[in-house]
Amino acid sequence: MIRNNQARPTPEGQLEHRYDGIAKVTGKAKYAAEFTEPFPKKDLVYAYIVHSTIPSGSIASIDQKEAERAFGVIAILTPFNVPKLTSAKPHNLSILQDTDVHYNGQPIAVVLASSLPFARQAARMLTIKYNQQPAKLNFMGRLDEARPPKQGGREQPGTQRGDLAASMAKATVTVDETYITPLQNHNPMEPHATIAWWEGEELNVYDGTQYISGVKMSLARILNLPLENVHVQCPYTGGGFGSKGTAWSHVTLAAMAAKVVQKPVKLVLERNQMFGPVGTRPTTVNKIKIGADASGKIVGIQHDAIMNTSVMDDFVEHSAGTSRMLYNSEANATTEKMVEMNLGMGTYMRAPGEATGTAVLEIAMDELAHKLKMDPVQLRLVNYAETDPSRNRPFSSKHLRECYTQAAENFGWSKRNAEPGQKTEGNKQIGYGMATATYPANRSAASAIVRILPNGRVFAGSGTQDIGTGMYTIMAQTAAAALGLDPTLVDVKLGDSALPKAPVSGGSQSTASVLPAVDAAARQAKLKLFQLAMQDTHSPLYNAKDTDIETKDGHIFLKSNPSTGESFTALLTRNGAAPIEAEGSAEPGPDKNSMTTQSFGAVFAEVAVDKDTHMVQVRRVVGTYDIGTLMNNKTGLNQLMGGIVWGVGFALHEEAVIDPVYGRTVNGNFADYHVPVNADIGDIDVSVLNIPDTKFNPLGSRGIGEIGITGAAAAVANAIYNATGKRVRNYPMTPDKIMQA
Ligand code: MOS
Repeated sequence: MIRNNQARPTPEGQLEHRYDGIAKVTGKAKYAAEFTEPFPKKDLVYAYIVHSTIPSGSIASIDQKEAERAFGVIAILTPFNVPKLTSAKPHNLSILQDTDVHYNGQPIAVVLASSLPFARQAARMLTIKYNQQPAKLNFMGRLDEARPPKQGGREQPGTQRGDLAASMAKATVTVDETYITPLQNHNPMEPHATIAWWEGEELNVYDGTQYISGVKMSLARILNLPLENVHVQCPYTGGGFGSKGTAWSHVTLAAMAAKVVQKPVKLVLERNQMFGPVGTRPTTVNKIKIGADASGKIVGIQHDAIMNTSVMDDFVEHSAGTSRMLYNSEANATTEKMVEMNLGMGTYMRAPGEATGTAVLEIAMDELAHKLKMDPVQLRLVNYAETDPSRNRPFSSKHLRECYTQAAENFGWSKRNAEPGQKTEGNKQIGYGMATATYPANRSAASAIVRILPNGRVFAGSGTQDIGTGMYTIMAQTAAAALGLDPTLVDVKLGDSALPKAPVSGGSQSTASVLPAVDAAARQAKLKLFQLAMQDTHSPLYNAKDTDIETKDGHIFLKSNPSTGESFTALLTRNGAAPIEAEGSAEPGPDKNSMTTQSFGAVFAEVAVDKDTHMVQVRRVVGTYDIGTLMNNKTGLNQLMGGIVWGVGFALHEEAVIDPVYGRTVNGNFADYHVPVNADIGDIDVSVLNIPDTKFNPLGSRGIGEIGITGAAAAVANAIYNATGKRVRNYPMTPDKIMQA
């Protein structure tokens, strides 16, 4: 077990610190909006997006005469003057191709000026007239309008297993409640930003993104360009959490504007502009019914979820998905339906589906445990799913039982008083709660390139992204391990669409997708190095067999006699000093559909609830995770901790409030949309089992960007119940809700 709060010597082959750590803390790491090259900096034009101020209708007119005369203004793009695109307009993007308004905050114009303040000032001088239509803004009052999704998401919207009614009839204890999760917004430190410039018919962009290839494909499709004419770069991404997995309107608008003004255009969203046009996590209302027999064995689970969607297009937040597979139950039925609203699009947000799904199901499980007078951990063990009940197939590797045991021990769960409201310290009520964490282990095809250089260093490149997660670090480690080198000798490049293609840095898939490709490329480069030596009459390895050769510490030598060999540098220098280069690809094996690849964890929380103010302080969170091989102690454990911080925010703080009349996000800023700050976070103790899952991929590692948020919110919610005896079923659990419960 590897634990964050214990002494952890850096294992051999791991970098102790982030590859990009020094570049980041010294400001040398450039984010999309910070580039001033290769175009002349003085040519840079600043764009400011104008957003609609009505939630539904159309734009009747935009009078731009006054704004055009404002100082520094270069151009103003509106639906009335923008170049019309010949390609089909994506229906979920607002790129000024029509005058329709689908939500308050929709991009409806772009002002271009010689500075950002000039552009922003001129934007206020536009006179915009609307034809307003009645807007769909009341979600809770329209739940009976819920309909199935128009097209499926990544899972079926509804499933049935067994005979639910017959099984439920056998239940001696039943929980039947409704749980609500609110609309939430991603709040990466780096706002969305794009710089676009054209060289003839070739489009270049710097974009803060989780998916350079996706941005490239979107721009080529929308602007009708050959794919090879679009070049996307993003060496660093200041967080994305799903919102930067999609090229939203501003990316295309920046490219269109750059074409109009024939200059490089920089478009950065203000914090407030990120509440709506770049994706949200939908509200979910979850009716959950669980029946169990007297021994605690679950006989049936029914989970009916209703979420909001946008009138523009559907996005399914699969909050019922977890209820199909986390526990055994002989019968199971789920539905996912949606209510259309005049809001921006829903999208993936850290552990989409599982974050909400565990937040609600794991309170219901806690309620069931209390009704059964059973320990919540014991209830989960009684209903432990050895195989995936939703797909009736084995897991590639599942060690959740050890997670419960380890985390319970690390937390001190045995000291919990099962009777709520019993433990106090002064005017604080103290409570313990727990929940299960889970997230799929995803993997896609990826490619990488590795070069062995005559100077003894190695280059590893892939068209992936580092969204703050540690991809630079683990790419360096993987290339180094394959070649037998110290990882500090590897130079990594990513975030450039000219590099071999890799998937979106989403769905926690990059580790399992990109590293096998880097490993394959490095192994092929190593074979080429062997062949060079074997064919070189001056090499000590001339005529040796490749199976007899090994490399270590920048040397190539005979396994049987390590003193027979030479350095990479000597071999390459003698052979023309050209680098050895190989490209490698990797993809999931043919058996991927015969098993479920899934990560698990157990998370425990201690809260102190103030009797007078009902404020909740999360004192401790302890989690143990089964995530395969941990690739790097620092970057890995850090992601799990970050996920837990999100879980605390989910439980206590985060909610985007929509004005019921105007449809704008009322709290679209960091003063009012609360995310946890240091003062909100107590001690976090995360550990991983570090058991390789080699059926999933040769490195045995599963991605961990998302699992940390799962379960954490419910662990806090259940701890609040244990502290106070008050069951809140509506996130976030703010003092007013606790007071009224
Ligand atoms: Mo993640 S929400 O799949 O970027």
